Amino acid sequence: MIVLGIETSCDECAASCVKDGRAIISNVVSSQVELHKKYGGVVPEIAARAHVEAIIPVVDSAITGIKPDAVAVTVGPGLVGSLLVGVSAAKALAWGWGVPLIPVNHIEAHILAPACEGNLPPFPFIALVVSGGHTLLALVRDSDQMEIIGSTCDDALGEAYDKVAKFLGLGYPGGPVIEKVSEEGDANAIPFPRAMMKSPDYNFSFSGLKTAVIRFVEKNGLLGNREAVKDVAASFQMAALEVVVSKTVRAAMEFRLNSVVVGGGVACNRTLRSLLLKDCERAGLRVVFASPMLCTDNAAMVAAAGYMRFLKGYRAGFDLDVYPSLKVGENREREV
Ligand code: KG4
Ligand code: ZN
Repeated sequence: MIVLGIETSCDECAASCVKDGRAIISNVVSSQVELHKKYGGVVPEIAARAHVEAIIPVVDSAITGIKPDAVAVTVGPGLVGSLLVGVSAAKALAWGWGVPLIPVNHIEAHILAPACEGNLPPFPFIALVVSGGHTLLALVRDSDQMEIIGSTCDDALGEAYDKVAKFLGLGYPGGPVIEKVSEEGDANAIPFPRAMMKSPDYNFSFSGLKTAVIRFVEKNGLLGNREAVKDVAASFQMAALEVVVSKTVRAAMEFRLNSVVVGGGVACNRTLRSLLLKDCERAGLRVVFASPMLCTDNAAMVAAAGYMRFLKGYRAGFDLDVYPSLKVGENREREV
């Protein structure tokens, strides 16, 4: 069974065909990153308009020579105008082809992304989602039974990377650029706070860390000092990632689960990958990362998640709406 996935929740316009939820046939992503660069973040109205222009060519190149058996689409969370473009396109295609329409939660798709590479561990497992809009730990009992056990109290991790990079004058998006300059910096140079490291819950906070970075740089007059900024970036990254890694491993141990799945744009980060690999190995846990192109926003993960939903009987009607604040584990669609 071939599922066409459509993803337009933020600033990537993407379409992908995946066979049986595990073999990628096509995977097209049109990024708007250049459009938003000068604003240092995604501008919702610009994003929605760019999706309108991109959606037909993107879908066209994903379905060349293929007739999908179902259409899966991200219905939330995300930007309302952007989501509406993908959902409208998905409805039109499903209606035209006479195939089922399957709604997908964007965060749940990040969690299920390793399925596209035949790499999803058996349920249950702990999932860590670290992206530009979300940072959370979830207990994943099944593809449609997920429960948030902890999340950020303020900024998402990717958002903290983006804000710190913007302040340091490193550009946008911040994650890849902070990762790059950190390679030449000393991660132990500045002891930035490890917020909520010792709290007994699974929540996170990154906004105090961001403020600590800004204060440190201003107090020491380091803005524009390229050498010093490398140490600041590396120390910021280590302070944020150590908390994330420690709480993720603790969650898996306390829930007595032996696998951890990591998704979302920040999961591309090589320091996060190596810290988690090391600590999970020490704790006897298996840790799974999708490859980087499946960690950032894409539609293959939506097609794979849609396939799993299809098998469980989920379908949407053509009155399907968008849900900008959809939470993990919120199953809004109709079951047949
Ligand atoms: O999942 P994603 O593509 O979009 C959202 O759903 O938010 O994540 C984008 C976020 C951005 O904040 C970006 O700075 C961050 O992921 N990111 C990274 C890396 N690559 C992307 N953060 C740290 N290290 C990276 N290599
Ligand atoms: Zn995402």
